[in-house]
Amino acid sequence: MRIPGVSAAVTLLALAGAAAAAAGPAGPAQAPSPAPDRLQWFREAKFGLFIHWGVYSMIGREEWARQLLQIPLEDYRYYADNFNPVDFDPDAWAALAKEAGVKYVVITSKHHDGFSIFDSAYTDYDIMRSKYGRDILGPLSASMKKAGIPLGFYYSIMDWHHPDYLPRRAWETDRTTKGADFGRYMDFAENQLKELVAKYDPAVLWFDGEWEHSNEEQRAFAIGKMLMAMKPTLLINDRLYKREPGYGDFGTPENFVPATGVRNPDGSPRLWEACYTMNWNGWGYNRYETEFHSSPQLIRQLVEIVSKGGNLLLNVGPRPDGRIQDDFAARLREIGAWLKTNGEAVYGTTASVFERLPFFGRCTVKGRTLYIHVMGWPADKTIRLPGLETEVKKAYLLTGPGRPLTFRRAGKDVVVTLPERAPDPAATVVAVELQGAPVVEPYMIVPEKDGRVELPVYLADLRSEMGQRAYLDHFYRTTMLTNWQNVNDYPEWTFTTDKAGAYEVRVSYASMWGGQAGYEVEVDGLKLAARTEPSPSVYSPGTFPVGQVALGAGEHRLRVRITCVANNHAMNLEKVVLVPAK
Ligand code: GLC
Repeated sequence: MRIPGVSAAVTLLALAGAAAAAAGPAGPAQAPSPAPDRLQWFREAKFGLFIHWGVYSMIGREEWARQLLQIPLEDYRYYADNFNPVDFDPDAWAALAKEAGVKYVVITSKHHDGFSIFDSAYTDYDIMRSKYGRDILGPLSASMKKAGIPLGFYYSIMDWHHPDYLPRRAWETDRTTKGADFGRYMDFAENQLKELVAKYDPAVLWFDGEWEHSNEEQRAFAIGKMLMAMKPTLLINDRLYKREPGYGDFGTPENFVPATGVRNPDGSPRLWEACYTMNWNGWGYNRYETEFHSSPQLIRQLVEIVSKGGNLLLNVGPRPDGRIQDDFAARLREIGAWLKTNGEAVYGTTASVFERLPFFGRCTVKGRTLYIHVMGWPADKTIRLPGLETEVKKAYLLTGPGRPLTFRRAGKDVVVTLPERAPDPAATVVAVELQGAPVVEPYMIVPEKDGRVELPVYLADLRSEMGQRAYLDHFYRTTMLTNWQNVNDYPEWTFTTDKAGAYEVRVSYASMWGGQAGYEVEVDGLKLAARTEPSPSVYSPGTFPVGQVALGAGEHRLRVRITCVANNHAMNLEKVVLVPAK
């Protein structure tokens, strides 16, 4: 929660669970004092389940169906009246959540369409008017409570139904703005929020749809303060206010992983939760969906996020009858199975102590134990932990804790020898117990002995925005950036050279549609443009020269950006190499 006029240091205090968290515009003096560790469970939870469910699921065109199809209010009422999820079984949902290994669940109480899936005293546009005619959030809260899983509620500020909500969308020609009063709408929202807290005692209020009003902070602060006074342990996301560091208890990057985690304005780490869809298109039920991330990819996604200090809130959009389709359920169970063995490397861990690892893997930390999640089994069957000054006591796989792995010191690094094969190709976890708290020297990408600079994709920061598609994957002997079709996704490397000189830039990639996709290599702002050429196969990269650059001694930044995609494919990028020009 943001305290206007007070610096980020105070926000940090709030992160640490201090009373400042509840301070609204009036300042800490009048704030109720929340439990000191109110954020602790959330910080340790790491994995939550998001549920987008409402009358829009009947249409099967995602939760924005009403806008997408420009459905008149009158016609949309048909869905509100006829919603009848006869197979909704809250115990089954709780059991699935348990099996998936999630530590909390967040469900939409009211989405942008304005329909409340709970029994609300403040509107008749709620579940009670539907054919189903029974409350949903009450029974769900009870089932989750029985299962020991905290439940939170998503609440949309934007509302396409309430007569007082403003502004209106261009397609809304049938809801008059005459007499509409946004302040009165916020009174309604406030009443519903109080109702949600009083009736169901949620652990989290997860706001959304704030963007049409993100400059009107005062009302939001007042609501936040009021809710905190009702329930001092309640967590509130940033979207009641603004999606910016410094607001709310946690940040909510949507469908992308921030390249280097999330920080407060003063540079301190911020609590954050990336919400993600398992499928490609939409949060609510999409009957036409055919594209789903694979379970190994979702497991790696979870690890990636946790290694950067965040939580993953993974979404499902149940069917209109209340069942969760197998595409979702099966993936949840597979992630849960992985967590059964590897959960200790996820829950309650903190971010990696390594800025980067010289292989395709990620690190999480608990006290004196490092967990190295190996995602691409290295050809030489070793992993190098760069700059690890603390001595290692013991190393073993979580799949076989009884069998120690051998390790040796190699200068500033520690090298652990792995078994022949990866027990789990998605991510095999090596536990590395240290003799003390981890001390690690920062990692720098520097030239090899012959002067060349190697920039493999696993050493890059993967920059992205909402709608990230690109991710790393391991193919046979190499790791590549794959599924690269969003031009906003790009790898970026920072490296140093020790002397000035000209370098030949060579890019190694595999490409399916040779010659059709365009890309650029950008070195310190200078762009070299190229088109993809055919490689031996989509799994085996070829190496292609793209030009020369002159570099001074010192630090440099290199990015590869795609400029044009062909058939949903640009290239599978393996690495960029700078070779001193002859
Ligand atoms: C976006 C969408 C919304 C979805 C939310 C989840 O803001 O508008 O439909 O619920 O993302 O983060």
